[in-house]
Amino acid sequence: MTMDRPLLPLVPPAGERLAPFPFYADRRRRHPVAYDGGEGIWAVYRYAEVRRVLADSDTFSSNRGLTNRPRLAFPDRVPDLVNSDGARHRQLRDPIARFFTPASVARLEPRVSELVHRLLDRVVPTGRLDVVRDLADPLPLTLSIELLGIPPEDRERFLGWWSRWLVWRNERPPYRRNIARRRPGPWAEELDVYLRRLATQRVLEPRGDVLSTLVAMEVGGERLREEEILDGCALFLVAGHVPVTYLISSTVLTLLEHPEVLRRLRAEPAALPAAIEEVVRYRSPVQAVSRVPRRDTELAGAVIREGEEVIAWIGSANRDEARFDEPDRFDVDRHPNPHLGFGVGSHFCFGAPLARLQARTALTALLERLDNLERVEGEPLQASHNPFLYGTVRLPVRFTLAGGGRPAPPNRP
Ligand code: HEM
Repeated sequence: MTMDRPLLPLVPPAGERLAPFPFYADRRRRHPVAYDGGEGIWAVYRYAEVRRVLADSDTFSSNRGLTNRPRLAFPDRVPDLVNSDGARHRQLRDPIARFFTPASVARLEPRVSELVHRLLDRVVPTGRLDVVRDLADPLPLTLSIELLGIPPEDRERFLGWWSRWLVWRNERPPYRRNIARRRPGPWAEELDVYLRRLATQRVLEPRGDVLSTLVAMEVGGERLREEEILDGCALFLVAGHVPVTYLISSTVLTLLEHPEVLRRLRAEPAALPAAIEEVVRYRSPVQAVSRVPRRDTELAGAVIREGEEVIAWIGSANRDEARFDEPDRFDVDRHPNPHLGFGVGSHFCFGAPLARLQARTALTALLERLDNLERVEGEPLQASHNPFLYGTVRLPVRFTLAGGGRPAPPNRP
């Protein structure tokens, strides 16, 4: 156990981002609570500590503003919803979370199915598909943009701005807060102006979308400020998009690596939800989140001072041998499966039902329509360069059509 402050890299090496599990195992065994003096930041890797950091929001605040690390003149604004605690957090969260109750998500099922089949229709005749580019990326992005309330005629333009925003945002690793990003280009101004105008329209003419909810929201008796509304939009789009992309592509990748499970799921589609849940554990799309202690606190023998940020490695907790039997085995029959892939406690992911629906619909369609699925050789996998997320940025596969070469009838609503 470390009572001192060993100066350690807290993040898996860049070349191991798709296989960070031996790194995590070593940290769990030798440095379950580690400190990086250069960044002035801690990390925990074992299930017990990760769960405690996430669940004990009295001690471990989500308000990164409490951190005592230096901030720059051009800081990232962290949206309030993921950055607040207690009553304020609930007032921000509850109105948006209402979009994702089981009943609301069930109403989205026909639209998700329509989108999946439309995306597949474009590529299926070619016998090849890049799971990320052609399906796993556009599906959640389109859905998120629709739920936010971007009108259909503006979506193309909006996607252009948004893809630039994502590139700009990914230029710096999330834990390196004291390194500046370069200033974004003129597109950022255009996006800003566009969203401000749309937000004003929604004040005058509310619709049943997320943006209308954000502009009408009252927190502590006050409406959100314009910046807070824009931050809310960005959070909603990021949170609802990238992890779902990686969940879908990691599920395909994992099934390609486990052909016996792929065969079983074709014969027994009812096992698909359990398989997807096991992917959330086995290749957790969100690998890490951070918290800031409000007071000096002991964690597994180490004393963490108030204001010293802590990274909780969900991806490591979900492979902890102290919590899961044979954690490195992909086991569709794992039951119970108490993974932390969607978080735990007051910040638990309210988008989980929608993420599950999209993954289930996408995988069902792939299994129904495609046979002999295999990776295209010579196409190495490339990891997300954000170490807090796990996924491959491309996954080219080839296949034959199910039903002996004829396109199977799409299962449209
Ligand atoms: C596989 C897909 C997904 C994964 C793995 C995932 C994972 C997570 C995790 C780990 C957290 C907890 C963050 C923390 O404790 O600080 C979280 C929170 C959140 N997720 Fe997800 N998420 C997914 C999909 C979605 C979707 C589809 C949406 C929206 C439609 C969404 C919206 C959110 C929001 C807004 C929060 C913040 C909630 C709060 O702070 O109260 N997520 N997610």
